[in-house]
Amino acid sequence: MNKLIIFDTTLRDGEQSPGASMTKEEKVRIAKMLERMRVDVIEAGFPIASPGDFEAVRAVARAVKDSVVCGLARAADADIDRAGEALKEAAAGRVHTFIATSPIHMRMKLRMEPDQVIERAVEAVRRARRWTDDVEFSAEDAGRSELDFLCRITEAVIAAGARTINIPDTVGYNVPEQFAHTIRGLIERVPNADKAIFSVHCHNDLGLAVANSLAAVLAGARQVECTINGLGERAGNASLEEIVMTVRTRHDVFQLETGIDTTQIVPASRLVANITGFPVQPNKAIVGANAFAHESGIHQDGVLKHRETYEIMRAEDVGWSANRMVMGKHSGRNAFRTRLEELGVSFATEEELNDAFARFKELADKKHEVYDEDLQALVTDAYLAAENERVKLLYLRVCSETGETPNAQVTLAVDGEERSAAAAGGGPVDASFKAIERILQTGTDLLLYSVNNITSGTDSQGEVTVRVSKGGRIVNGQGADTDIVIASAKAYVNALNKVLQPAERAHPQLL
Ligand code: KIV
Ligand code: ZN
Repeated sequence: MNKLIIFDTTLRDGEQSPGASMTKEEKVRIAKMLERMRVDVIEAGFPIASPGDFEAVRAVARAVKDSVVCGLARAADADIDRAGEALKEAAAGRVHTFIATSPIHMRMKLRMEPDQVIERAVEAVRRARRWTDDVEFSAEDAGRSELDFLCRITEAVIAAGARTINIPDTVGYNVPEQFAHTIRGLIERVPNADKAIFSVHCHNDLGLAVANSLAAVLAGARQVECTINGLGERAGNASLEEIVMTVRTRHDVFQLETGIDTTQIVPASRLVANITGFPVQPNKAIVGANAFAHESGIHQDGVLKHRETYEIMRAEDVGWSANRMVMGKHSGRNAFRTRLEELGVSFATEEELNDAFARFKELADKKHEVYDEDLQALVTDAYLAAENERVKLLYLRVCSETGETPNAQVTLAVDGEERSAAAAGGGPVDASFKAIERILQTGTDLLLYSVNNITSGTDSQGEVTVRVSKGGRIVNGQGADTDIVIASAKAYVNALNKVLQPAERAHPQLL
């Protein structure tokens, strides 16, 4: 087999990053982006975790047609049936069931004997097969499990009908040579290994998730589980963009193909960063702002003479736009629609297009050069406006001057009724947030406030993420504007709208 299956778990393991919770609508948006990128399998969530998680998996299953949609389940009947139910309407659905196999997990967490674990795993796979032929089994903490035991359980679950065997390095403990040895050992020793695809799922606690995954691929694994921007529990998972681009760039070593449309990588990275509020560090491989920037004179000179002197990939191939200035205030509706289509955004109705185009014209008046990043923020803003069902920001006036305490006046529409308040604060953003909270009285705690400039220059739009919590529920809000105080107020209002909605779902970590 010369195909490497890309299994994306941004919506499941990625969501387990503390604070990265996503709404159903946000999950569907990311899933559609992953589908456009031609990801093979999209793990959409953990349906038993909460009614909201169930609904999110179901919504992704309905929306996605070209990728397999997967739901996670512990090796227990109720979990498996919930996952099967959530995936019922998927064009292609996979149930992914797991149980821990390391001595420490079996003894201390499960309090089960190894033979009982095998029995439970077999029952789980058989139960999952009642829902679908596409069943994946994961041996949780396989990275610290005994190879003999892994061989026994793998043989048993393949015989019970598992088509994919996933070997997670759950705690990110392995090193590449050792992990490759485990994968090779399994493939060579399990008698029915040829009936399943071997997969890996590596965590990044020692910064080795990508290296371990790729070592496993060289040892015979044909599915890699990964996430956009390397998001995931604790230090994260192997990053999709690094796996895909390594396999492609070093085809001479791997001799494998992924089906990924790599030009969608940067737009997907931006979308995930924006929705989760986890910004990408500038020096991050492939998707960091500096990933293709040459600073040293010697490097610049080399690249100008012959690009491949210092570049092993083309920025355009991963979705960085070669033509940085894409639009301006004289650009027409058609050019606007075409550019957004190239960025993977299409409009359901002419009205939506007209609305977005009107916003674009407003932005182009304030900002002469409108870049891809601005266009994406514009579309996000439209989604956010639609998300703000109960509260809308109508008016904001902030006064900030040297030697004076900043103060803000805010008017909101709350369930259709106009309400205003004023407040003073430590700075203009603080004053605005206090005025908003004075109106809404939500009693939330602010966990994170972060501002990023979308492009360079002082006329750049500021993209703000706000994370708030109430009663154990954590939500993110976003806002973008050329005025960062307005962007901040929009982000805060967006987060509070989510808080005011009925508790759709608990964060998966609370399970
Ligand atoms: O890290 C892990 O072991 C997991 C499994 C549930 C696949 O996320
Ligand atoms: Zn994991």
